[in-house]
Amino acid sequence: MSEQIGPIAVLGAGTMGHGIAQCFASIGAAVRLYDVDLPRAEKGRAQIRAVLDKVVAKGKMAAERADGIVGLVNPTADVATAVTGARWVIEAAPEDMQLKVDLLGKVKAAAPADAILGSNTSSLSITELGARVGAADRVIGLHFFNPPPVMELLEIVRGVSTSAATIAAAESMAKAIGKTSILVNDAPGFATSRLGVILGCEAMRMLESGVAGVVDIDRAMELGYRHPMGPLKLTDLVGLDVRLAILDHLTREIGEQFRAPPILRRLVRAGHLGKKTGRGFYVWTPEGPRLPMAGE
Ligand code: 3HC
Repeated sequence: MSEQIGPIAVLGAGTMGHGIAQCFASIGAAVRLYDVDLPRAEKGRAQIRAVLDKVVAKGKMAAERADGIVGLVNPTADVATAVTGARWVIEAAPEDMQLKVDLLGKVKAAAPADAILGSNTSSLSITELGARVGAADRVIGLHFFNPPPVMELLEIVRGVSTSAATIAAAESMAKAIGKTSILVNDAPGFATSRLGVILGCEAMRMLESGVAGVVDIDRAMELGYRHPMGPLKLTDLVGLDVRLAILDHLTREIGEQFRAPPILRRLVRAGHLGKKTGRGFYVWTPEGPRLPMAGE
């Protein structure tokens, strides 16, 4: 199956991109991992190495297998190198339509004419992306969840002109990488982000209005509803900037119920983007998340 799938190009080596690359390398597919400069692309591969080192240390994977997975990931800072001969291209660039259009425009010029162009967007319109790139039949939403190697869902988003063949290929690709897929029509925030951000948003409003503290709001959902993580911790994991971009988009497209709480905008302006910067609602230490100390 990996031969039918590979080679894959993943564009963007950040939080989601390197995890998506790991999903494909884990089934033996060759992955080109692109980012705007080589150090960023190499950092993505180093993050896969770090995750797998922990799995090996726990005795849950042989060191040779981890080496094999990492060895299938080739970092590059050149779009054409990434996509030449690729059957699948998955962009995991920041949540900005123009940026994604420009990136997939470059891809279209260099990738095979029948390559499937997937977008890991959390909320933006697949229909618009496909139309603006000029390849609407083969542009599709492939929405992964953080951390991609662990989370079971792949949300497949069908744009108005995405072809039946592209959808069928995406569904069988999902199976090949061990995911369960859902098929959703193109709508702002799809099925997942639209529901997920509203919980996070309400948690922030509750924090702002003094209903409870960060830990207690999270525990309410962890222990009372068996969510694996409370909504504020999850916002830290996803990235505060990512959630803010989704909320701004959903406010424009759907309405005021998605208006971002001031605390979110303030933390983003301060550069506190969550786990990836070491601080969001929590301070992230090697031992795990803790609350910021007074004056910190
Ligand atoms: N690669 C491979 N394995 C990994 C991994 C990775 N990147 N990250 C964690 N793991 C493995 C660990 O090795 C561990 O394996 P084990 O059980 O065999 O030892 C297992 O996953 C669980 O990890 P941990 O023990 O470190 O921690 P937890 O048990 O607390 O689980 C979690 C961590 C999986 C993140 C869990 O807390 C969780 O499910 N949280 C909710 C995540 C979620 O909701 N994600 C969706 C966010 S929304 C999104 O992404 C959409 C986007 O568009 C914004």
